[in-house]
Amino acid sequence: MNRKNIVILISGTGSNMLAIANAAQKDRWDEKMQAHVACVISNRPGAEGLVSAAGLGIATQVLDHKNFESRDTFDAALANLIDSYQPALVVLAGFMRILTAGFVARYAGRMVNIHPSLLPAFPGLNTHQRALDAGCKFAGATVHMVTAELDHGAIVAQAAVPVLEGDDANSLAARVLVQEHLLYPQAVLAWLQTADAGGVQSYAN
Ligand code: GRF
Repeated sequence: MNRKNIVILISGTGSNMLAIANAAQKDRWDEKMQAHVACVISNRPGAEGLVSAAGLGIATQVLDHKNFESRDTFDAALANLIDSYQPALVVLAGFMRILTAGFVARYAGRMVNIHPSLLPAFPGLNTHQRALDAGCKFAGATVHMVTAELDHGAIVAQAAVPVLEGDDANSLAARVLVQEHLLYPQAVLAWLQTADAGGVQSYAN
């Protein structure tokens, strides 16, 4: 079995990255599946997640998008950096960048994202407020394959939470985030377990 490097891209807090990195260490993905988080890359130099990743002994890199003239030049440099870690899987975890079609195509079938809604409902931003405004009784999170259309790739896994009386966007986001931290490591693990067979298995959480 080939060693499977995971590269995680973040822009901020990195709590989902941390959930995956902790699961990988605690559940010994390295021993069991020759899989490990090889690097955490942030497009923002001050991202809190860089500190927590380094605290776990994980290599970190910063590629500040502000130093690039265009989306294309940034994405090309990002791809070079990612590829230097020879990733089996690229994990977007709160990576707040629109990706070019070329970048997405390069990692087709091996790049996942977590989105804080029950897709296909509410792609894009402000998902929790939009779920509240729509009167939804359930909200949740979706892990999906990344394709050129934002938040539209094949669904890998989902977790649902109830919307409670008196919820605002913050309370709902916090309830969803707890589930994200359970869902994303499970989904990455499932992807890794089927990677050698060349496919991703969808499953119900
Ligand atoms: C999460 O809500 C995730 O679903 C969304 O961005 C947020 C990232 O949070 N894509 P964190 O940086 O993982 O804490």
